[in-house]
Amino acid sequence: MKILVIGNGGREHAICWKLRHSKEVEHIYCAPGNAGTAALGTNVSIKQGDIDGLLQFVRRESIDLTIVGPEAPLADGIVDTFTAAGHRIFGPTKAAAQLETSKAFAKDFMKRHHIPTAAYEVFHAGEKGRLRRYLSASSYPVVLKADGLAAGKGVIIAQSFEEAMRNGESMLEGSAFGDAGTTLVVEEFMEGVEASVFALTDSVRFVTLAPAQDHKRILDNDLGKNTGGMGAFAPTPHVPTEVLADVKIHIIKRVIDGMRADGIPYAGVLFVGLMLTEDGPKVLEFNCRFGDPETQVVLPLIDYDLGVLLRDIADGKLQLNRLPLHDANAVCVVMASSGYPDAYDTGKAIAGLDAINEEEEGVLVFHAGTRTEGGRVVTAGGRVLGVTALAQGSDLAASIRLAYSAVNRIRFDGAYYRTDIGKKALQ
Ligand code: AMP
Ligand code: GLY
Repeated sequence: MKILVIGNGGREHAICWKLRHSKEVEHIYCAPGNAGTAALGTNVSIKQGDIDGLLQFVRRESIDLTIVGPEAPLADGIVDTFTAAGHRIFGPTKAAAQLETSKAFAKDFMKRHHIPTAAYEVFHAGEKGRLRRYLSASSYPVVLKADGLAAGKGVIIAQSFEEAMRNGESMLEGSAFGDAGTTLVVEEFMEGVEASVFALTDSVRFVTLAPAQDHKRILDNDLGKNTGGMGAFAPTPHVPTEVLADVKIHIIKRVIDGMRADGIPYAGVLFVGLMLTEDGPKVLEFNCRFGDPETQVVLPLIDYDLGVLLRDIADGKLQLNRLPLHDANAVCVVMASSGYPDAYDTGKAIAGLDAINEEEEGVLVFHAGTRTEGGRVVTAGGRVLGVTALAQGSDLAASIRLAYSAVNRIRFDGAYYRTDIGKKALQ
């Protein structure tokens, strides 16, 4: 197969890396890709939002399977366009992607299908009076969520009525998150540990990957600003077999059956963001794509041909009931540009990549924001590299040690990383 992967982050490098181990995969193209994906195939300079340009490329090169990394092309209906044109593509349709693109859709769907999640209410532009009444009767904190895609920034945890009302009003008026916020979900605050479970589904059957945990805050001990994710590990001891079984039965199966029953079959990756509460796992959010940096730990743990798996799913013919996984664990430490998640410099030379013998050490250096410049790899984004290490069995301490030993040998001006990735799982 000739494969096109869309996107340019660490997630896409990890997807390309895993596909390189597929017996069925002949060549990998990545649009637009980064310095890491260039080493595994051919980067194609077409923007991820240029659906027509991508379609023309797929036609011209007779691509057998397209895999979509980020949510934006899915939200824009790339799967609908490619399918209508007779091209095989892995991911949900625009209608099915509403599980991510509309929080109100996702919440109403969960309520209808009895999927455990926080209690909530939806408000539309012009409903300030109703919002005021609801918030004055709420207990605090409450969580305010912009309905639409807001680049991971559309969630506000308000500690008081005043804070909630102020933020809620500016969302409904469109001044906080533009159109994405003029419909607003207000939901109950849940306490617990967060985890991510990924299901791969052809809309009927599904398999799950190793449950993972992300580290969203910029500073150690989960302090500071929210980021795209500063590190991850899998499997997490917070989601043992019996909890995963609960998630499969009460959440994932109900989502997949429910979407089919509603006439919007969901195929692709279903990313379930969970809060593990005292009353059991509850859904925080759905994403319609792989997580970043979770992908950099869950894909290396798969003991199966990813090309075959994603092709079968795109064909609606998933053959497995359970996905074979390695008896191992993985940790990914993200190396970022100083300043991230705010402004940062790019173009800094990255040294030390050659000194890491990936195979021998059990380390994989996934590129996130990099490009090649005059034969050198330089920084080109906020999150620059994701350094993944693997260790046998459940010895997470071993993979953490390994990951940091590699991180310490990679250098670029202003390199920043958290020093506590995976630490919570050791306690
Ligand atoms: P979301 O984009 O919906 O996953 O929200 C982003 C982050 O906000 C989550 O990862 C949680 O840390 C937090 N969050 C969202 N909803 C809730 C909730 N109902 N209770 C507590 N924390 C929440
Ligand atoms: N790591 C969280 C995300 O991909 O949204």
